[in-house]
Amino acid sequence: MIKSVEWTGKSLRIIDQTEIPRQLVYRELTTIEEVFEAIQKLKVRGAPAIGIAAAFGLYLGMKNGDYQDKADFLLQAHSRSDYLAKARPTAVNLKWALGILLDKISGQPEKPAQLIDRLLELSLILLKDDQERCNKIGSHGSHLIHNGMVILTHCNTGALATAGIGTALGILHTARQMSKNFEVMVDETRPLLQGARLTMWELQQLGIPSTLITDNMAAYAMQLNKIDLVLVGADRITANGDVANKIGTYNLAVISRFHGVPFYVAAPLSSFDLNLTDGNQIPVEERAREEITHIWQKLSITIPEAQCWNPAFDITPADLITGIVTDRGILNPPFNDSIKRLNFKKYQTQEVLSL
Ligand code: MRU
Repeated sequence: MIKSVEWTGKSLRIIDQTEIPRQLVYRELTTIEEVFEAIQKLKVRGAPAIGIAAAFGLYLGMKNGDYQDKADFLLQAHSRSDYLAKARPTAVNLKWALGILLDKISGQPEKPAQLIDRLLELSLILLKDDQERCNKIGSHGSHLIHNGMVILTHCNTGALATAGIGTALGILHTARQMSKNFEVMVDETRPLLQGARLTMWELQQLGIPSTLITDNMAAYAMQLNKIDLVLVGADRITANGDVANKIGTYNLAVISRFHGVPFYVAAPLSSFDLNLTDGNQIPVEERAREEITHIWQKLSITIPEAQCWNPAFDITPADLITGIVTDRGILNPPFNDSIKRLNFKKYQTQEVLSL
């Protein structure tokens, strides 16, 4: 199976996703600065994967430091965590993973050397935890997939975006393993083409028939009754069920409602941010203008002086969402009630809670 993030024993090995599908290149990251750069440049991307990468990044940033005592260690850990959290602001998994590490080490009486070991131990737990969450999302969501369906997806939510089989794509992976026969229509996902480059590549490896379209073809495909279900991921879900996800997700939700196509979001509980009441409070990352003035950083497609706006995510209001597939089951509207009923603990990982 594809391993987008992996601990080698001395480095964080990632698949450089900016090279896919041209070539499969691994990078060995050994410093916090390399991890920051890999997250910011989307070498490692997808909400769960960047959370895991950040956790190892914090460990790498702390492991060779000189600390007077525990208080000094914690001070420096918080400052390095703040630095990593700035690499990408929208996916809450980054803050979630770093928050677990900081919370756990602050409550323990160990010496700095032991706390360093603890950071690594926790990072490894988070990696395994994400794999398990993906498997659970896959098995809950597989009930939505039936023979003969055509499912439209956006961006990349597969093994590349997580430490496991993926979220929305993990559902398709699981359904395929159950020998269900279906097809996938893949939005190219302008401007960085995660759909065309990454999702098409993953679906080919899974042996799932897939058809690439440009983002602006989805409405017409629905008008022609070519789509039975839309399945996307999430970077942050607020207490009322609003969802931040890759730019273009909101378009899909609007046209799905218009055409009566079910619109499902798949995400682990590590992507929920219950400190926020609604999607207006989510920080939306704006990225460099060159991502839209050029095709894949090479071919210029507009006038050099073009004024640009490049939000990397949008917010889909909860009332356009049919259901949210989580590792704890499928949530139905009204989402503020179904999310409350999850009895959400701040850091929902059994292994971490019991440490
Ligand atoms: O900018 P990206 O490529 O990191 O955006 C990724 C997405 O929007 C995914 O849909 C989301 O992170 C879910 S990944 C399981």
